[in-house]
Amino acid sequence: MKSVLEIKNLKDKKIFLRVDFNITLLGNKATDLYRIKESQETIKYLVKNGAKVFLVSHFQDPEKFSKKFSLDRILKYVKKFFPYIEFLDFKKTNDLLNGRFTPVGKIFLLENIRFFGDKENDLEKAKNWSKNFDIYVNEAFSASHREHISTYLLSKFLPTYFGFNFIKEVKNLSIWERGKDIILVLGGSKISTKYQLLKNFQKEKLVKKIILGGALLNFYLKQIGFDIKKSYYDKDFKEILSPEKILYLDDVVFFKEKIVDLGKDSLKKIEEELKDFKGILVWNGPLGVVEKKPFDEGTKRFAKFLVKKKFFKIVGGGDTISFLNKIRLLKKFNYVSTGGGAMLYFLAHRTLPILNLVRK
Ligand code: 3PG
Repeated sequence: MKSVLEIKNLKDKKIFLRVDFNITLLGNKATDLYRIKESQETIKYLVKNGAKVFLVSHFQDPEKFSKKFSLDRILKYVKKFFPYIEFLDFKKTNDLLNGRFTPVGKIFLLENIRFFGDKENDLEKAKNWSKNFDIYVNEAFSASHREHISTYLLSKFLPTYFGFNFIKEVKNLSIWERGKDIILVLGGSKISTKYQLLKNFQKEKLVKKIILGGALLNFYLKQIGFDIKKSYYDKDFKEILSPEKILYLDDVVFFKEKIVDLGKDSLKKIEEELKDFKGILVWNGPLGVVEKKPFDEGTKRFAKFLVKKKFFKIVGGGDTISFLNKIRLLKKFNYVSTGGGAMLYFLAHRTLPILNLVRK
């Protein structure tokens, strides 16, 4: 993995800089700017050293062009960090990617890259885009569990380097290299995206316990025969989740026949489990329906408990970060990952698709 510091001469080089500005907007307001903030250092470094920087990101998951998915909606937040950035609209971005246009200036934000078939993973298209740039920099750890052109394929055609935050993520999330005990706390909804991680962690010697919350816990409780009433769980997922290392929690709060939070006894049991823990705790996904009060109580109490503890705490996932930010506890965590799905992927596989390519 080469850092941007290893690029010999940046002067006037055209950089395809993949960032992840896929932030959450509630109405038109961003819930947090963590991802933008964390990419700052790399962007500033490239600009300061004379490169021509093209920031590329996706925003949500559109099939085709629509204003609702335009990165123009994020521009005002990016401008807080880079007031002089110029936005390239759909036509200009299209012309740039196809070699029909090179703007004058130093720093640009392209239109949502998914409007242009980024997900097609098409080699010809990747080759075509690559012709219009000199260097590919990936500063989008949080999107790099995807094998898309901008997160993956371009590295086949351009000299490839990684941003400061990407490298920091890999270093901090390589938890098994530290030889310490690990506890995983996993909430959120879909078991399908978390199953591999759970299975791998159940097999990993350093992992001592797995604590589930949210619809993941519903899924597990349902499987072991607990009556979850009308609670949501991933019905389509047919694999069996073995009970190995999973902390048994059966005190849950129901509202209108649906589980909405962990109950007090479950929280006490978690606190008891963590009382003398000295290793690394990794947390991704809220433990209850945090967007509706008072169903955020369990997650809030858990977070308050955690920040008093001395062990190393890693947290990730958009919803968890926004929530911790809202209750002003985010800064008390030792490491905050910009990744949600990417963090889970990296923890499960100990690598990412693009890292496999560049390490070949
Ligand atoms: C994320 O928010 O997890 C990343 O930006 C990836 O987004 P995606 O799930 O739409 O690929």
